[in-house]
Amino acid sequence: MERINAVPVSFFGKGAISLLPPELRKRNLKRALIVTDKFQYESGAAAKVGDKLLEAGAAYAVYYNVQPNPTTTVVNECINAARALQVDFLAALGGGSAIDTAKAVSIVMANGGKVEDYEGVDKSHTHGIPIVAINTTAGTGSEVTSYYVITDPVRHSKMAMADPNCMVTIAINDIDFMMTMPPALTAATGMDVMTHAIEAVCSTTATPLTDKDAVWSITKVKDYLPRAVANGSDEEARTMMAYAENIAGMAFSNGGLGMVHAMAHSLGGFYNLPHGVCNAVLLPRVIAFNGQTPAGQERFRTVAAALELPGAATMSGPEAVKAVVACIAALNKTVGIAGSLKELKGVDPKDFGSLADLALHDSCMTTNIIQPTKDQVISVYQAAYEGR
Ligand SMILES: [Fe+2]
Repeated sequence: MERINAVPVSFFGKGAISLLPPELRKRNLKRALIVTDKFQYESGAAAKVGDKLLEAGAAYAVYYNVQPNPTTTVVNECINAARALQVDFLAALGGGSAIDTAKAVSIVMANGGKVEDYEGVDKSHTHGIPIVAINTTAGTGSEVTSYYVITDPVRHSKMAMADPNCMVTIAINDIDFMMTMPPALTAATGMDVMTHAIEAVCSTTATPLTDKDAVWSITKVKDYLPRAVANGSDEEARTMMAYAENIAGMAFSNGGLGMVHAMAHSLGGFYNLPHGVCNAVLLPRVIAFNGQTPAGQERFRTVAAALELPGAATMSGPEAVKAVVACIAALNKTVGIAGSLKELKGVDPKDFGSLADLALHDSCMTTNIIQPTKDQVISVYQAAYEGR
């Protein structure tokens, strides 16, 4: 038996925001809080969304203090604003940080308590208030997943929540909102997509339904991410990356993630580093680790085929692991991602024991193909630090 979750409505393509007003009128949504960051506010993107809300007859205010790796402090501030304004829906404008903030706000507004109460799996009892997610990165897949991640600023760790009640009501992937992503953000968020797709293939809860989505996304990210990074105005590359991120999002939301995300959550939460960069640097090292088992090797033969590596069809398991590691390391280099954790601000090997403890307790670790020991997690951090 398996359960597949999907958002009720998804609008795709250039100019897709224009499909929003009739959908809002149909649902009789009247008072919104736009949840976004300063960049989207100052660039005029929030006003562009606001115009569509007004066209639908909905009043709105804007909360624009979302930060990368959003904290419980940001979530609480946003909840206070939403309650004071008595909003009946949220319009999240941004990448994973804005959409995850909106998911946390939505759950707490409908269920009460505080965001920390919902850490883990299926902790809420009712669906959150409606969210319209206008996605601006090709990226986290948050607009289509049942996951959200909030940083606890006291523990310096990320809380991962898996909960279908947080899923958005209307997801919009309009590339007009993605064209301004700078190359470094395009690269980091794009490698997050690649990590979602590869981890979904290798997850212990993968199914044929999630495999077909994940494999498709791996091929597209390999083909289109370098183009989107080299030329942000390449509409075809932006469009295909938007599809890849959404489809990889559905794959991992229903098929699970693994050790890369478990380790990246603790790393990113501890040092406030970009999620996509943490994933990208860890990915080849975790593939090498997971590829030690026959079960892992079999999955990486699938990944090697999805990456269209020469000779993939006849590769042995160990050959596939080696070839996939080399391909991902080369892709990281092509799109300008750091080659080691040593190059990332603040990372210190003396913290690896604490990071490993956090990673071992992350819900993403439960579906990894190997359940590692603490020493093994530390040794993967160490290899990534040294660029081995
Ligand atoms: Fe991710």
